[in-house]
Amino acid sequence: MKKFLMALTGASILVLGACGGGADTPADEPAEEAPAEEEAPVEETAGGTYDAAAAEATYEANCMSCHGGNLEGGVGPKLAGGAFTYDEIIHVLGEGKGPMQPNIVEGAEAENLAAWLADQ
Ligand code: HEC
Repeated sequence: MKKFLMALTGASILVLGACGGGADTPADEPAEEAPAEEEAPVEETAGGTYDAAAAEATYEANCMSCHGGNLEGGVGPKLAGGAFTYDEIIHVLGEGKGPMQPNIVEGAEAENLAAWLADQ
């Protein structure tokens, strides 16, 4: 049993080494299905339209100091690149997290901001 495990470990190391070469192109193909799954929350977001100008104003007034002028992050994490879903943003806006206070922005303003942010 022990020998078997050792052989297995040795094999894993070899496999990892082989993957480092990046010659494994066919393995990339199934990965294309992952972004398709991610589209579900994005569509949810797109379902509720948002007012981008209003959302940007809300962001600049309430979030920019910690999350950066270009959503690049600062005290708080980066928000660009669809880093968080609509639901995650609504949740953190209501509950707060770490140094981030709950209910900085509420109601329709929070929903508009979250829809816009999730789409960035
Ligand atoms: C006082 C600074 C501060 C302000 C203002 C602030 N945030 Fe944050 N935010 C943070 C920090 C710090 C974290 C990371 C908290 C942690 O992971 O413990 C965070 C986390 C987040 C997260 C990630 C939540 C998660 O699930 O990990 C989102 C989304 C977010 N903030 C959005 C916003 C939005 C939108 C606003 C404006 C309404 C805002 N933040 C205002 C500091 C701030």
